[in-house]
Amino acid sequence: MKKSALISCSIVLVVCLYACTHKPGVIPTIPKNDTTAKNNNNNNNTQDTTQQMVDTSVCFQRDILPIFLGSCAISGCHDASTQEKGYNLTSYSNIIRKGLQPYYSASSKLYTECVSGKMPAYPIARLDSTQLSLLKHWIDMGAHNDTNCSVICDTTKFTYAAAIVPILKNNCYSCHATAAAPSSGGGIVLDNYIALTVQVQNGKLLGDLQHQSGYNYMPLGGNKLQDCQITQVRRWIANGAPNN
Ligand code: HEC
Repeated sequence: MKKSALISCSIVLVVCLYACTHKPGVIPTIPKNDTTAKNNNNNNNTQDTTQQMVDTSVCFQRDILPIFLGSCAISGCHDASTQEKGYNLTSYSNIIRKGLQPYYSASSKLYTECVSGKMPAYPIARLDSTQLSLLKHWIDMGAHNDTNCSVICDTTKFTYAAAIVPILKNNCYSCHATAAAPSSGGGIVLDNYIALTVQVQNGKLLGDLQHQSGYNYMPLGGNKLQDCQITQVRRWIANGAPNN
């Protein structure tokens, strides 16, 4: 018995050692680890930080408010004039008034209704898993009004899938997704590439985003996008607006 136990142990050990030294295809996802390892003796390693560094914290102005503005504070729903069921979801002070218990996402209706899929109501798209986890994390961290957030936006990255779609999804789909467009977006669809290119070619996408005179200001009723995001759109268009 003892002997066989010893043998199994050695096998496990050998397998472990092999596995630990041979990690095929495992690529470190966060370069941060590498830089700290390299600069162990040097506390000031800011020179290695880049704009692409993943910021794991949730920030209200950057991550949460756009979700509420894009999916909830819509005309006929939870905007300042409709306030359906008493919910005005247009600003921090209004959002924390009702259905929100800081530190307890499970007791916060603003979160649980979104998890169950009751909200946002059709035809507005349900929140995706990233949006839900941001919302949960923000509430569980105390639902603070963080305003001074660094923007995760890298102007050297401007592909359709990685840069343009997330911008439109967070700021425009609430009115311009296929299902929402007839009622909220003046019939303009922006959630598929072909439809979007129509607005690229007629110059309105950029004109609207830049709030140029003679154009409609988009997002309608919301804040102008960050300069950095507008730069990404401008560069994507200058590059021929590819479906990349
Ligand atoms: C709250 C709803 C709403 C949001 C959010 C919104 N739009 Fe619009 N958008 C509209 C409506 C309504 C129209 C139609 C305006 C008209 O016909 O006068 C429109 C029209 C447009 C048009 C067509 C050209 C024009 O100006 O009429 C473009 C392009 C556009 N929006 C881009 C965007 C982009 C890009 C975003 C996100 C950054 C966005 N919109 C967010 C409601 C919205």
